[in-house]
Amino acid sequence: MGPGDGPDRLEGRSLSGARVVLGVSGGIAAYKAVEVCRRLVELGAHVVPVLTEGALHFVGEATFSALGSEPARTALYGDADPIPHTHLGRQADLVVVAPATARVIGSYAAGISADLLVATLLATRSPVLICPAMHAEMWDHPAVRENLALLKRRGTHVVEPAVGPLAAGDVGPGRLADPGEIVAAAQALLRAAGFGGDRTSTASPTPRRDLAGRKVLVTAGGTREAIDAVRYIANRSSGKQGHALAEAAAARGARVVLVTTTDLPVAPGVEVVKVESAAEMAEAVLERAADQDLVVMAAAVADFRPGAPAPSKLHKADGIPHLVLEETLDILAELGRRRRSGQVLVGFAAETDSIVERATRKLLSKGVDLLVANDVGKKGVGFSYDTNAVSIVSADSVVDVPLSSKRAVADAVLDAASDLLRKAALS
Ligand code: CTP
Repeated sequence: MGPGDGPDRLEGRSLSGARVVLGVSGGIAAYKAVEVCRRLVELGAHVVPVLTEGALHFVGEATFSALGSEPARTALYGDADPIPHTHLGRQADLVVVAPATARVIGSYAAGISADLLVATLLATRSPVLICPAMHAEMWDHPAVRENLALLKRRGTHVVEPAVGPLAAGDVGPGRLADPGEIVAAAQALLRAAGFGGDRTSTASPTPRRDLAGRKVLVTAGGTREAIDAVRYIANRSSGKQGHALAEAAAARGARVVLVTTTDLPVAPGVEVVKVESAAEMAEAVLERAADQDLVVMAAAVADFRPGAPAPSKLHKADGIPHLVLEETLDILAELGRRRRSGQVLVGFAAETDSIVERATRKLLSKGVDLLVANDVGKKGVGFSYDTNAVSIVSADSVVDVPLSSKRAVADAVLDAASDLLRKAALS
């Protein structure tokens, strides 16, 4: 994605009023933080750059002072403000660290306020978005993995690094995520905190609170079905649409449970249940379903799984395995059978042809209220894109949502579901 491309460009100055501390630590990827800073400011955020000593070996303080909303901060001491970290931490609506080195991740996890950046991280109660970048060996080290897992359990959001060229001609995992992806994750967190609307949305620019007090369960991501102890059958679902739905529902006031197979950032206040297989997803959804006002099955659940996964690794020397597949439980259809009165059920379908016709058939056969069909044959639609285009099919109408951000699609789906919840309450 090139500078200025992507959904954030469409949303104008949608982050007006949001204060972001942009932490930059030492690594070759620090130059990419310049672009993150520029884009956040362009979107209207008030960005305070905080550079570690390590960052200053790679990028200039002057660059960030020129592009940020305030001069860059580099030290805990010697500032006109005697306690800069508490003020920065308290005033921030979001702290983004890009790139985050193994040292910053470790210090933050251990609570060691080694410098202004880590002190600010420890002093904030606002969402934190960590974007790691380091050499593949460091990224793979159990210390780094465990520190990051600990931070995630505490609610820190993480934009995972990509696989690609690293410093000194190496290639591997550990490359800082694309600035566009980092900005999109920051936007999602700020939106969930009530900043900005979405001009591509068919919904109103500031989130409606029409789901206040409602219980909503959303599923996201593709399931993994074990072949043996190390291999699995998966699908291309990224989980982005499901996570956008959970974020949008929370912004509209719902109490949200997100059953997900992915580690994507999750909006504050959303309860997360991490699952892997279709069977785990079925268990997590069905044990909570009776309580929910709305269930949105955005996950790509495997229709088939290996019937008898091997408990240990299958070896080549044992010959080609013959996989016998068995059907998984259709969770959505089961929800349709168990549905209590007043509950609204929404399914998703990825189609390539006769979209509305197939969606209508699925709507009826699974006994659900809305079927959101995406034409995955179209450019920019479905799977790993940040955009989607769907037809929202109900028993008596079809609403087409043109190519929009996944958050905008989420709001359009919730508009339709919310109408149905209101009608159900009146009848
Ligand atoms: N789904 C589910 N449980 C499954 C499979 C799918 O709950 N075991 C849900 C998905 O979360 C999604 C919808 O059903 O909401 C998608 O249905 P799809 O897999 O397209 O339907 P199928 O009936 O399997 O249709 P197809 O013939 O296209 O595979």
